Amino acid sequence: MLKKLQQRWNVNGLNLVLIITTFALGGSLCGYAGRKILLFTNLEKNVLWFVLYILLITLLWPLCVLLISIPLGQFAFFKRYLIKVWSKMSGRSKNNHNKMNIAIFASGAGSNAQQIIKTSSLLLQEKGEAKIEANKATYEVALIVCNKPGAGVLQIAEKAGIPTLLIEKERFFNGDNYLPELKKHQIDFIVLAGFLWKMPAALITVYPKKIINIHPALLPKYGGKGMYGSKVHEAVIAAGENESGITIHFVDELYDHGEIIFQAKCEVAQQDTAETLAQKIHLLEHANYPAVIASVVEKQNRS
Ligand code: GRF
Repeated sequence: MLKKLQQRWNVNGLNLVLIITTFALGGSLCGYAGRKILLFTNLEKNVLWFVLYILLITLLWPLCVLLISIPLGQFAFFKRYLIKVWSKMSGRSKNNHNKMNIAIFASGAGSNAQQIIKTSSLLLQEKGEAKIEANKATYEVALIVCNKPGAGVLQIAEKAGIPTLLIEKERFFNGDNYLPELKKHQIDFIVLAGFLWKMPAALITVYPKKIINIHPALLPKYGGKGMYGSKVHEAVIAAGENESGITIHFVDELYDHGEIIFQAKCEVAQQDTAETLAQKIHLLEHANYPAVIASVVEKQNRS
């Protein structure tokens, strides 16, 4: 139950405790304030009193939880929470709340990231012009996470005006996993595109089935630790395969292991080298990754 709440709200254990405490204290404060206010009316405790009391605490509740959330450091969460509740109640959520914020984790040249960014702005533009159904989900690249200073993907982010986050191993694996930064940018979904570190278990718990990766071969073959970049293509050619391809999969705690979402194939010709095969694979990736992300995001948005 608690784990489910943690996943639903994208928060770590400590934040969950603080959020539940805010709910409890906010509820008590609201009940107390409601009774105090009604004392001024000199009304007897009859049906009218109860009706007024319920109306009063309904109005006071958002104010009370927001107030309590400030000293407990949960204001940003409750602000988002109340906006969500309000848009659900007013029926606006169906049309407006369907854009997912994604973070791309990448440490290389960033050609996939570039393609994903390009597609996201096209989707948002189309949405603005109402060319696609109003309730179809779109995504927006809200953050680029990188572990290599000077990586090409950082320049791509800068050109596109997307915030970047340079991460360090120690904090990523043994600290808070950069969850506060992901929360600050309201990240709903994580896309790996050339990111070589394993995802820490804590991040997988907070983003269940919300982290996907692309691998430049047909998994389960040619995956696992150390299988990245040209090493994958060299292994495919050395094994005499006549086809290779791409695999897009959910991320679990093992390298290149989670449930497969999509695969596409290409031919490995006699004369192919690791370089020419990499070019074919990149074309397949660029043609398919953004569309697969859009479709997974749409499904998540509906569930
Ligand atoms: C891609 O081939 C992808 O399959 C792998 O890393 C590469 C990243 O390339 N995971 P780029 O940085 O997107 O150009």
